Amino acid sequence: MRLILLGPPGAGKGTQADYICYKYNIPHISTGDILRANIKEKTQLGEKAKSYMDKGLLVPDELMVSIIKDRLIKEDCKEGFLLDGFPRTVSQADSLEIELKNLKQKLDKVINIDVDKGELIRRAVGRRICKNCGTAYHIEFNPPKVKGKCDKCNGELFQRNDDTEEVVEKRIEVYLKQTKPLIKYYFDKGLLLNIDGNKSIDEVSQDIMNSLK
Ligand code: AP5
Ligand code: ZN
Repeated sequence: MRLILLGPPGAGKGTQADYICYKYNIPHISTGDILRANIKEKTQLGEKAKSYMDKGLLVPDELMVSIIKDRLIKEDCKEGFLLDGFPRTVSQADSLEIELKNLKQKLDKVINIDVDKGELIRRAVGRRICKNCGTAYHIEFNPPKVKGKCDKCNGELFQRNDDTEEVVEKRIEVYLKQTKPLIKYYFDKGLLLNIDGNKSIDEVSQDIMNSLK
């Protein structure tokens, strides 16, 4: 299964990606996670990306396309993958199409998770992430059993630099301008599955699984 998860910041893409990848046994390719890992390791890519990410802006297309090209040729992507956070512009989507053609592969579906703006801000601002294993929690909607600690590995939870209300507003603005046009782009290709992401985590997950059947 070759899938793309589309949706505004805080829509629940990462949360749902875990369920989908487990069910279909495919790798979860999150460009946000790849960039954050590079920032943590202080690589050249990380240094470049950080200034864009902290402001809520998109990292330039050339950088993102080369990350994805390098990732898609890896052995574990042969039978399928889930792209989370890529493509984010029409230019990235065009580049992906060319790359998949070169690899003689085709996308199966594009899952678009739609969530109201007020809810997006609540979800992103309340998100806390495990420093160790990357699991995402929410202080209200999906709290850990022990405050500030990860259920899975007891790691410390932290808030992302770009999860302040001000930066989340900017990310939503950038999404509306640069990423939302991809909904029509993939609808026109007959690949789009629209999912109402305003429901609970389990309900959204059920709706996605049913629509992929
Ligand atoms: P990225 O990491 O991709 O961030 P994003 O798209 O803004 O998405 P988020 O990770 O914020 O949210 P999510 O939809 O995964 O939600 P989650 O499941 O965590 O990108 C970050 C930055 O990197 C970008 O701004 C850009 O600078 C750069 N970048 C990345 N890719 C790029 C690209 N291709 N091109 C250029 N730049 C790029 O859920 C959010 C919270 O809500 C959690 O706390 C969760 O527990 C909770 N939650 C989830 N679902 C529900 C539910 N149904 N009900 C209640 N709570 C829920
Ligand atoms: Zn953890």
